[in-house]
This record gives sequence, C-alpha cells and structure tokens, in this order.
Amino acid sequence: MRIAVTGSIATDHLMTFRGRFADSLIAGQLDKVSLSFLADDLDIRRGGVAGNISFGLGVLGLSPVIVGAAGEDVADYRAWLERHGVDCRGIRISDSRHTARFVCTTDDDLAQIATFYAGAMAEAREIELEPVAARVGGLDMVVIAPNDPLAMVRHTQECRARGYAFAADPSQQLAFMEGPAIRKLVDDATYLFTNEYESHLIEQKTGWSADEIAAKVTTRVTTRGKDGATILTRGQEPIHVPAVPPAHIADPTGVGDAFRAGFLAGLAWELPHERCGQVGATLATQVLETVGTQEYEGSMPGFVARLRAAYGDEAADEVAAHLPSFID
Ligand SMILES: Nc1ncnc2c1ncn2[C@@H]1O[C@H](COP(=O)(O)OP(=O)(O)OP(=O)(O)O)[C@@H](O)[C@H]1O
Ligand SMILES: [Mg+2]
Repeated sequence: MRIAVTGSIATDHLMTFRGRFADSLIAGQLDKVSLSFLADDLDIRRGGVAGNISFGLGVLGLSPVIVGAAGEDVADYRAWLERHGVDCRGIRISDSRHTARFVCTTDDDLAQIATFYAGAMAEAREIELEPVAARVGGLDMVVIAPNDPLAMVRHTQECRARGYAFAADPSQQLAFMEGPAIRKLVDDATYLFTNEYESHLIEQKTGWSADEIAAKVTTRVTTRGKDGATILTRGQEPIHVPAVPPAHIADPTGVGDAFRAGFLAGLAWELPHERCGQVGATLATQVLETVGTQEYEGSMPGFVARLRAAYGDEAADEVAAHLPSFID
C-alpha cells in the first residue's frame, strides 16, 4: 500500500526562562513593550504533523512518501526522516523562506510566550500530487493533515478528481477554518480522523449531523484520550479500542499523530480496523511516555509485548508478523 502523508513539516524551538515574565511587564508601559529574556535551555525538536506521522510509519517498517513544503534549512531533518525509511522526494524546497518554526519560551510560572512562523509551509499550496503518484506507481491512500489551509483544500480536491482514496485529518486547523472549507475537506473521505472535541467542532461548523457525516465518510475514527478510540464504519457495528495505560506521562504532544501512524500501518498490512486501532493506541502510549514527538524509537523493543498485554496473544501475533525484526 503506497501512502502519501501531506501536512506540515516544522521544528519546535523550546526555551525556558528562570524567572517570571509578569515581573517584566509593567502596567501602563504595555504600549512600548521591548523585552528580552535570557533563556537557560534550548531544545530543538523535529515536528510538524506530516513529519510525525511519516516518522511513525517509517519506524513500523513502512516507506511512506511525505509531501509538504520546507526551506533549505530542512536538510538535517530530511536526512533523519530518510534514515527512518521515509521517501522525502515529495518535499518542495522554497527558494526564499525557511522551514516552519514554532518558538516558545516558558517561565517558572509555566506562562508561555510563543510565535509560529509558517514560512515555507505556505508554498504547500503549489504542490500537485499527480507527479508524486506517477513517480511511486500510484497512491493508495493520501493523508491530508494540518498544513497551509489552501494546500489542504487543493490536495483534497485533487484526490477527489483523480480518484485517490484520502484520509481527512484536519485536527488543529479546524479552529481556524470556516464551515464551507471544512465541508470540502471531509466530503468523500475514506477515513476521517479527529479527537472528540474536534469531532463536535466539525459538526458545529459544517452544520452536518453525525448521520450526515456518516453518509459522506466511509470510516470515522474518533480518539478519546485515555478512553481510547471509536471506529465507525458505514453499515457496520461501532468498534471501541481501549487505550494502553502508560507507565508514566512524560509529554502528551504527538499522541494523536502516533495513533494515526499506527492505524495507517495496520491498514497497509491489511489488518481489520480493530487491530489498526490497537497498533495506533500502542504507538500513542509510547509517545506519551517520551518527551518530543519522534523520540520513541528506543522503546520500540517491547512494543509487541505491550500490545500483547493490552489486547491478547492473537492481536500481538497478527501484528508481529508485519513488524521489522528489531521490534519485538
Ligand atoms: N492518558 C492517556 N492514556 C493512554 N492513552 C492515551 C492517553 N492520551 C492519549 N492516549 C492515546 O492516544 C490516542 C489519541 O489521543 P487523543 O484523543 O488525546 O488525541 P489528540 O487530542 O489528537 O492529541 P494531540 O492532538 O495532542 O496529539 C488515544 O486514542 C489513546 O489511544
Ligand atoms: Mg490531535
């Protein structure tokens, strides 16, 4: 199964300031703010939704094609993804803008001052999927994950026009998009992935009821944090997949992306939806236990044992048959 993952490619630059921002903000002087904070640590993490999902697929032994826009500065990140099995030839390199970047400083009160620079991501709207499909011999599933909003709409329209099956994963972009654009992203999707909050937001913004969405989307996957996930396929009984309890929670960022990567890997292995959800939930828990969204490779030995403990022998044996040998 040839999977293309479209979406954001970004790095997060996270700093900590030992002090309180509030001590520097002087009431009455807020019209002339000019502040600088001396940060102690700088942590640079690879991220972006397309980066996270493709990385997860790569770690599970698949070779997804990542499709998105970045700057010249993406070279190291690209090499990292390639080392993990991701086909990066679908990354468009901007000749004038840097890769999208999230810069955030957190103080001792956990107050944050953050800036997001979209940069090259805006050029994702220039990307056409057809040349990517031609190069890899066709696309069986195109994931449309958070990205430049015009790119998301364009990729979806191209999938519909060319008959590529697609998975709509609008996630955090739902907050910034209006009903008519969201309708364009959802209609005709083979899969619709959201968390519970986003699932309500879609209904509210599009004005479509759950039944109407069920008529437009073949399978709707809704994740519910520690309460697991629900998989609803048109004409079938709903499936509930319980979550895998974490040993400890280090950082929840990226759990949704890991769930999607695991689910899509299950689809590529032609496993039934319940197994797909179990692979997704197991990978999500590995991410929950590590800081960062692409730092869990070290905990992959043990993946099958964990899936076995949560879902039983049959599930574990079926999944293990498809995994690379370092994962057990
Ligand atoms: N506290 C938790 N304990 C166990 N599993 C969890 C927990 N939180 C999330 N998960 C797993 O991750 C999946 C996705 O979680 P969730 O619904 O919170 O996604 P999300 O809100 O899209 O997350 P994000 O956007 O922050 O990545 C869940 O279906 C579950 O399998
Ligand atoms: Mg999410």
